[in-house]
Amino acid sequence: MEEQLRQIQEEADRQLAGVTDQAGLDALRLKLLGKKGELTLLRRSMGSLPAEERPRAGQMINAVCNDITEKMDALGAKIKKQEQAKKLERESIDVTEPRKHTPIGCQHPVSLVQDQILKVFTGMGFDVVEGPEVELDLFNFELLNLPKNHPARDAQDTFYIEDNIVLRTHTSPVQARTMTSRKPPIRIVCPGRVYRADEVDATHSPVFHQMEGLVIDEDVTMSDLKGTLDAFARELYGEDMRTRFRPSFFPFTEPSAEVDLTCVNCHGKGCRVCKGTGWIEVLGAGMVNPKVLDMCGIDSKKYRGFAFGMGLERLVMLRYGITDMRALYEGDVRFLSQFRED
Ligand code: PHE
Repeated sequence: MEEQLRQIQEEADRQLAGVTDQAGLDALRLKLLGKKGELTLLRRSMGSLPAEERPRAGQMINAVCNDITEKMDALGAKIKKQEQAKKLERESIDVTEPRKHTPIGCQHPVSLVQDQILKVFTGMGFDVVEGPEVELDLFNFELLNLPKNHPARDAQDTFYIEDNIVLRTHTSPVQARTMTSRKPPIRIVCPGRVYRADEVDATHSPVFHQMEGLVIDEDVTMSDLKGTLDAFARELYGEDMRTRFRPSFFPFTEPSAEVDLTCVNCHGKGCRVCKGTGWIEVLGAGMVNPKVLDMCGIDSKKYRGFAFGMGLERLVMLRYGITDMRALYEGDVRFLSQFRED
């Protein structure tokens, strides 16, 4: 038995030297000290020895067991440390490594220009008011002096939801809503989406954006309108900007004007964008028709007002030299991300 023990010990030492991980160590522990381990079996076989030899045999087996256990525990601790070190290395973070590029979003050019315009008008004391895109015929037409069967209704190819409900064809219904719900003085701008049954092409879209302006007070005049629009143009595009009024017609304003702006591309010199004239047409405007004031519950003997409306897409296109409106709606990030303005 002594010989057997010596062999087990030698073999164990040899194998221990080759163990490099926890799994190997566990297997060895099982092989030697497990239920059917070599040392366990040897200890069990002691019963067959003569009684006087048993104590010495027991001591010898214990000594070998203790020795192997100690060595295995030491090796186990070493392996554990190594594995921990490896894990730490695997999971370590290099804080100096440049991080992955995170794309930063940017504003759509239409919102960009809309915000710039809102900033100019809020700076002049205007409130920003919004209204519904699905609108009652009453606000979109009727209260704006466009009764049913009025020929001017044809100018706006309307999407009807029901007989009396439309997708608003302009932002002017927000004027009507505000006049019926607020008391003068009123000074508002109303940005928003509007709808017309137009075919899509380079300069038309069935959905586009407008910005409406409305001022009502006791002594508002046409020169206030001109002064306000001049200030707006200078603030937005520079000190050399001018506006030019041409007679026009809208049922809800009287008198009415088409308003031209100094060409934002050539600043008046004449270029391809303004077809050599130095002017670009961007606004409709006028003095609020007294009939509209009265229909909306504002005393036209006491109050007057001016109103204007502009299409934002046109301004955006002129501003950035975009020649095809469809580019604004296609959502191509490569196109849209060019208009970052910090
Ligand atoms: N609502 C008009 C349009 O869409 C623009 C406008 C607004 C004209 C306010 C005059 C006054 O064409």
